[in-house]
Amino acid sequence: MDERITLRVNGRTLEAAPGRLLLDVLREAGFTAVKNGCGSGDCGACTVLVDDKPRLACTTRAGQVAGREVVTPEGLPPAEREPIAAALVAEGAVQCGFCTPGISMRLAARLRDPRPYQPGEEVRLLRPHLCRCTGYLPLLEAARKLLTGAPLPALEEAGGIGARLPRYRARERVFGEVPYVADLTAPGLLHGALRLAGVARGRLVALDLEPARALPGVRAVVAAPDVPGSRYVGLLHDDWPVFVAVGEEIRAVGDVLAAVAAESEEAARAAAEAIRAVIEPLPPLTTPEAALAPGAPRLHPGGNLLARTAFVRGDPEAALARAAVVLEEHFETPAQEHAFLEPEACLAVPGADGTLEVYSPGQGAFEERRQLARALGMEPEQVRVRLVPSGGAFGGKEDLSVQAQTALLALVTGRPVRTVLTRRQSILLHPKRHAMHLHYTVAADREGHLLLVRARIVGDTGAYASVGEKVLERAATHAAGPYRTEAVDVEALTVYTNNPPAGAFRGFGVPQAAFAIEGMLDRLAERLGLPAAEIRARNLVAPGDPLPQGQRVGPEAVLWHQVLERARAVMGDHPRAGLALAFKNVGLGMGAPDTGRVDLEVTPDGSGVVILGGASEMGQGVSTVLQQMVAEETGLAPRLLTVVLGDTARCPDGGMTTASRQTYFGGKAARAAARRLAADLAARGGDLKALAGRRYPGEFRGETVPLGSDGPQHVAYGFAAHVVFLDAAGQVERVHAVHAVGRAVNPLQLEGQITGAVAQGLGFALWEDLGLEEGVPRHDRLARLGLVRADRMPAVEVEVLESGDPGADPIGVGEIALIPLAPALAQARRRRGEAWARRLPLPDPDGR
Ligand code: FES
Ligand code: FES
Repeated sequence: MDERITLRVNGRTLEAAPGRLLLDVLREAGFTAVKNGCGSGDCGACTVLVDDKPRLACTTRAGQVAGREVVTPEGLPPAEREPIAAALVAEGAVQCGFCTPGISMRLAARLRDPRPYQPGEEVRLLRPHLCRCTGYLPLLEAARKLLTGAPLPALEEAGGIGARLPRYRARERVFGEVPYVADLTAPGLLHGALRLAGVARGRLVALDLEPARALPGVRAVVAAPDVPGSRYVGLLHDDWPVFVAVGEEIRAVGDVLAAVAAESEEAARAAAEAIRAVIEPLPPLTTPEAALAPGAPRLHPGGNLLARTAFVRGDPEAALARAAVVLEEHFETPAQEHAFLEPEACLAVPGADGTLEVYSPGQGAFEERRQLARALGMEPEQVRVRLVPSGGAFGGKEDLSVQAQTALLALVTGRPVRTVLTRRQSILLHPKRHAMHLHYTVAADREGHLLLVRARIVGDTGAYASVGEKVLERAATHAAGPYRTEAVDVEALTVYTNNPPAGAFRGFGVPQAAFAIEGMLDRLAERLGLPAAEIRARNLVAPGDPLPQGQRVGPEAVLWHQVLERARAVMGDHPRAGLALAFKNVGLGMGAPDTGRVDLEVTPDGSGVVILGGASEMGQGVSTVLQQMVAEETGLAPRLLTVVLGDTARCPDGGMTTASRQTYFGGKAARAAARRLAADLAARGGDLKALAGRRYPGEFRGETVPLGSDGPQHVAYGFAAHVVFLDAAGQVERVHAVHAVGRAVNPLQLEGQITGAVAQGLGFALWEDLGLEEGVPRHDRLARLGLVRADRMPAVEVEVLESGDPGADPIGVGEIALIPLAPALAQARRRRGEAWARRLPLPDPDGR
């Protein structure tokens, strides 16, 4: 049957087979502002207008809209675009921007609808849309103002640190004009697709690629024997196979068996599924206990214990002997899915001279280049990695996902290849937040002063190392919180299992540890009849005190106490409120080499400056931060400052975007470069044209010492207190977040980051649990992951405390803002009369 129908799209006539998905038809026709976040009607990213009504393109067949008027973001008239863009930008409602075009189309449809505004209707309006970045509140505020005509807040167009500048290129993101990797194309493009194992453990007995090769449109099928270099890659350990080889063991449900390149995405995916894999099933090791049991099969040559971090300070037994109170408790936290809205993607373009250009949404251009060159048997200089601003990452795009397989397909075919994971594949493949068991013993004197914190932590790192041992190291070094204690005795084990790998996720092991230590302080407070804030005030480190892992804190601890006192005042004696503190390291630390680099290049015509950085923009706003740093030092208007990040051929290696390090490290490097530029500018009377073509490198090296040594283990720490207020039914009504930031670079962005992190923290506390069965996620759709939607979002009040020192360093809030939420909520529940919380997610009072 080659029946075709016609549809009108943005005034153009398109032909399509009636059974094809409207989303595919639109994107193939070049309307790539229509995003594919899930393909199953869960996220709203694909919203278009059909005869003025919003409609999801991913659940609509072309035949259903035959002869009707379809409008995509590209086709919305400027007069309708302008107010929507103005509202979203002014409210700081655009972060990674992947959800934004779909939301904008929903707003456009509502504005075409003549019905009067109903108070609060914006919540219902935006409920079909998932946004993993903003925490919805800025979106709701923008929608309300748009629908009511209420005035928008003014933004600043100039200024350095402290200015409420609009996010870099935010306006273009509103209607999808900034492309993500899946929107990029190249002449002769082929489409890649992966075949995943689909079982958590088994032996790959045979792999028959011929059924795939025989399908029309297929240009290449590759598997383990085709990898020219190292078949194993990884951030810290090369233990993750690009492809599992025949005869080898499958260790995770997301293991890749083969990859296909074909003339269309449909053909590539059909071919990948046609590959015949014979797998001898083996019982998966689904818990660290099983993996560490005597006689357990070894998942990797070194055994199933990947790493052990342990340290003891003081004399634990003497502390115990002196204690008036000794408490013991066991906590459990689940694996959590990042659920960034943009699934993993890669475009690889081979050069005529044997080189390769790789477009990636990853979190470290030079690290990706290192791993890719190793896998492909190439010199690093032959591979150019270009990071493309991603549609969210939160740590989940630190590891390679589809890059190596896509690059190999491009080399084999000699043509550009683009691979985009389906949502299901994305959930199966990338590393999660570590599920942890945390066993605590805490001892204190009669006044509640801590004498001992003993923690035994076991983290399930899944099938591959990723950065798991560092996550557990962070859990260990934050296990006793920001508190003074006579003795500490901590051990953290990182254990391989057959679950999906676990790695970096906003907070990096600290949310789990904070849930436990804050919960222990609550138990201690209750035992001693002390208020929650008081037990913390008695133990919080002061300047000169050692943190539990040994590093002495500086004058910043004064601000930490002010944060606590503000939270105490806000909480008052509310009977259903809870308060928790958190600290979180900045930068890799622990003696690891850690250098931020940013170069500034005056354009050839001297009309502006290009900021060349090593970071990746994933919605956190690092581009704007760098702009403001440079504007601060040079006095140049931000509109003159263009940002290029993560291009290994143009930018310096500024390290990965991880550990809250880019605001601090990248920011300091940018300021160092900008000071040089400013000096030259001053010498030429401020004439930028006189410096045309000049380049100014900037660098900041973080000097730290390993755990157990004297000196700074981390260059800085973020610090926050959250107060959670429950309503009479036990639902979260309001969150008050107090943060110490050194200096606030951009208050608008800062508030947005905090609100977004609170939303993720709320999900972690209440609803999100990947739920593994025999090593396989129970839920492989966004709709089933328990993600917070607009109607579940409580009010969030953000309070930022700056040090008052104009020379203070800005500290990123992206990670720290997720951490205190769960323990604060657990405490509020307890104060409301519920049982002690031992496990996340907490039971939902509504059973939702
Ligand atoms: S892509 Fe259509 S709803 Fe997610
Ligand atoms: S801004 Fe909404 S998903 Fe990133």
